[in-house]
Amino acid sequence: MILAIETSCDDTCAAVVTRDGEVRSNVVSSQGVHARFGGVVPEIASRHHLELVNAVVDDALERAGATLDDADLVAVTQGPGLVGALLVGVATAKALAAARRLPLAPVDHLQGHVAANFLAPEPIEPPFTCLIASGGHTLLTRVTGHSGYELLGQTLDDAAGEAFDKGARLLGLGYPGGPALSRLAAEGDPQAFGFPTAARVAGLDFSFAGLKTALLYKVRDLGEEETARRAADLAASYEHAIVEALIARSERALAAEREPRLAIGGGVAANRLLRERAAALGVPVHIPPPELCTDNAAMIASAARFAAPVAFPDYLDLDAYVTAHHHAL
Ligand code: KG4
Ligand code: ZN
Repeated sequence: MILAIETSCDDTCAAVVTRDGEVRSNVVSSQGVHARFGGVVPEIASRHHLELVNAVVDDALERAGATLDDADLVAVTQGPGLVGALLVGVATAKALAAARRLPLAPVDHLQGHVAANFLAPEPIEPPFTCLIASGGHTLLTRVTGHSGYELLGQTLDDAAGEAFDKGARLLGLGYPGGPALSRLAAEGDPQAFGFPTAARVAGLDFSFAGLKTALLYKVRDLGEEETARRAADLAASYEHAIVEALIARSERALAAEREPRLAIGGGVAANRLLRERAAALGVPVHIPPPELCTDNAAMIASAARFAAPVAFPDYLDLDAYVTAHHHAL
């Protein structure tokens, strides 16, 4: 069994997954403390990881009916993410692995999102096109094997989830605002306002910063009262613009495939409109269950199944990295 740890942002996660991709436990402890700041505060995130990580690992083992003795590999997110947050997971994983002289598999967080698709009970096999949209990342990839991907496009500025969160904030909906904005949007008219979908950005890259600014100006133009009255229409039009941007790029990428199939991961995969629009693309669509789309350690274990493990004691000087590496196959 693989014991995995993920602490790249504000969720403290541990999971136990079998070698054939069966999830025995998947524990996520979300740090509610960041909401009052309207976003994740890195230093607070690190401190909370430190307080939570041992209990979360114990909980994952217990829920799996296992002990550390049952693990033959420890996996951990090495990057990208917040460096202080990552280091808590990396140090914990090293200590656990070294205590049992186990090998350690450093895993890329984005490869983890891709590898969520390889977990039981409904794994899909490469090749497929994979859209990853979360609060920190938005990328479109071509997956032809289990241990890497080809980067087709990525956001040039904000991530899609970040766009949802910033829009929600402008509409006074709190943080993280994606789900709240989406709920409000369900009662509005997506055609009420014309927000930009970055149609001018060529190829398969994304851009969401202009959209956020457009909403800001619209809210200013309308004024407080009118904004409140039209909140549902604003939310619906804004959500429509984000989703259309994601769908348009995905569609472009799929058009180049002989046997097009789309997988979607990241927190934004929970979005109702995105799911509807993906389902209407006319290609097979694979979306892991929500708890495997948002940040979790089971996806890190899944990626570790196909990664080269580092033997004891070679991983003791392993470091975290902050920015994406996009290791191709
Ligand atoms: O993958 P995730 O849990 O954490 C990151 O790695 O960022 O993604 C969280 C992001 C947040 O920006 C949140 O607002 C967004 O996913 N999100 C949604 C929905 N559920 C979560 N955005 C739109 N609609 C949703 N239903
Ligand atoms: Zn993530």
